[in-house]
Amino acid sequence: MIAIGCDHGGLELKESVIKHLKDRGFEVKDFGTYTSDSVDYPDIAAKVCPEVLNGSCEFGILICGTGIGISIAANKHKGIRAALCSDPYSAAKTKEHNNANVICMGGRVTGPDLANTIVDAYIDAKFEGGRHQNRIRKITDIENNQ
Ligand code: RB5
Repeated sequence: MIAIGCDHGGLELKESVIKHLKDRGFEVKDFGTYTSDSVDYPDIAAKVCPEVLNGSCEFGILICGTGIGISIAANKHKGIRAALCSDPYSAAKTKEHNNANVICMGGRVTGPDLANTIVDAYIDAKFEGGRHQNRIRKITDIENNQ
């Protein structure tokens, strides 16, 4: 199961990413927003991140206008490693090296076809562990020492 959410700036891109994921055979839990009415992106991050942290969803996708605000908000959730991705190389690397559990995109930045390649690159990549696991542990140490 994949958790997905957006603010009003990411609505159209969210819809097209959901279609792509379903076409690939994935189950998707959509946490809104569902209309073009203005909403606050931290509220959407706050719906998606717990689903990833409690294991209900394997990972999350968050979309706002730029992807920046919603990635900042997501990264305030302890245990979330949210990566703002605007290209497939970074999307693959953030799985391989950072084991990102949320990817973020900008609905006003990234077009639908590119977004699909970003999502595919992330899904199809594998976390490499090893020295990268050690670095993630150091990120967790920062969280735990705050
Ligand atoms: C909303 O207008 C916009 O600020 C938001 O979608 C996002 O781009 C913030 O980082």
